[in-house]
Amino acid sequence: MQTLNLIAGEWVGAPTGATFPVTDPATDDVVAEVPRGGAEHARAAIDAAAAALPGWRALTAADRARPLRRLAELMVEQRERLARLMTREQGKPLAEARGEIDYAASFIEHAAEEGKRVLGEVIPASRPGQRIVVLRQPVGVVAAITPWNFPAAMITRKLGPALAAGCTIVVKPAEQTPLSALALGELSIDAGIPRGVINIVTGDAAAIGEAIFADARVRKVSFTGSTEVGRKLMVAAAPNVVRLSLELGGHAPFLVFDDADVDAAVTGAIKSKFRNAGQTCICPNRFFVQDGVYDEFVGKLAKQLQTMVLGSGLDDAVSIGPLIDDDAVAKVRDHIEDARARGAIVRTGGEIVRPGPGLTARFCRPTLLEGVDASMKLSVEETFGPVAPVRRFSSEAQAIELANASPFGLASYFYTRDASRLWRVAERLEYGIVGANDGAPSTAQAPFGGVKTSGFGREGGHHVMHEYLDVKYVSIGITEPNA
Ligand code: SIN
Repeated sequence: MQTLNLIAGEWVGAPTGATFPVTDPATDDVVAEVPRGGAEHARAAIDAAAAALPGWRALTAADRARPLRRLAELMVEQRERLARLMTREQGKPLAEARGEIDYAASFIEHAAEEGKRVLGEVIPASRPGQRIVVLRQPVGVVAAITPWNFPAAMITRKLGPALAAGCTIVVKPAEQTPLSALALGELSIDAGIPRGVINIVTGDAAAIGEAIFADARVRKVSFTGSTEVGRKLMVAAAPNVVRLSLELGGHAPFLVFDDADVDAAVTGAIKSKFRNAGQTCICPNRFFVQDGVYDEFVGKLAKQLQTMVLGSGLDDAVSIGPLIDDDAVAKVRDHIEDARARGAIVRTGGEIVRPGPGLTARFCRPTLLEGVDASMKLSVEETFGPVAPVRRFSSEAQAIELANASPFGLASYFYTRDASRLWRVAERLEYGIVGANDGAPSTAQAPFGGVKTSGFGREGGHHVMHEYLDVKYVSIGITEPNA
């Protein structure tokens, strides 16, 4: 296991020698100690990324794609080792961790190919003797600030396209889950990515963040995390007018219409809500079910939830791992208690437990709440836990109004078998991502991102390349023989 930081191709500790522990949220065992870097450490990483930039930028897209593809292959080859490491530091069930390694690798593979399709333009000129040419060039040094809920994929969906575009990068992984990031760094060296192109620093988020935004060589910051932090980064980005991509919080609605395939809706609800113990930005936070199928949907969902197994993600039988830390537990507990105090009824779950000897009391039973209304905290704030609050609706217009009554706009879901309704509702939902009869829309070739307070910028698809490219207009004057 790699526990040091990667700067300019060397494995280094923090300049002060300070470290902090990475713990397993299922057991509180210390998995490793990693460097507690600060501003000086971050500047060294930026120096390295800036020094590596001219050489990397000058390569052809195909020459950049080759080591990137190798990195993706190495990740898949070492899936089991990487997945176990991820489960230990993050807690998610092994099956999900294995899936995340493949998902993470797919962003690199996809971006490596997209890098070859970064096209310029020649635009018809407005006068004789002029040629209008548009170049797309790498923005320069990029910083990626990534969360703990997807310790590998949230890095690769930034790093892949940044590198494919010709940028170099400084990655600051979440304090809870730095080990997956450092493991990717190791594989990047084995894959032949030149020194300094990828730099990884762990430690004091505030000091590292300040150093990143204070350094005019960093031309782009891509962040995944809360809307609260995203707002602060927008302020921090102002002095140097740094470009941002912000993938922020969500509060996804999940609509089930009377004409839905209810079994498919239940399967979609399990996939979207209970993945990673409900700790994803695209998790549904509000279920709205039409009167005609309400009892069937709620009954079937409750039955499924009662079959889910809590425990250490390292146990293959487990489907729900721990919440990441005690703050997360406090928030989930508060949301459940607040809802109960305001009249919600716990149909199943509702408890935070210690599911076995040697395990922490950070496991929330998959929870289904009925009798929910708009006054409850979980109707307006992201819960980030395995809690499904369900409300009824009676008409399509009401469902759309309820679904859009949120400042967030990341993901949304609905189930219907009516093709006209499918188009109408998809067009009217004010969200960047719509799963129409699909509880798992995320994939590397599609644009992922939000509107409203869920942020801006897209990850995945050909769209992501533009996040790491500047547009340069070149107006060329030439001599025409007859002019
Ligand atoms: C997230 O919710 O933070 C990412 C989920 C995904 O990529 O599917």
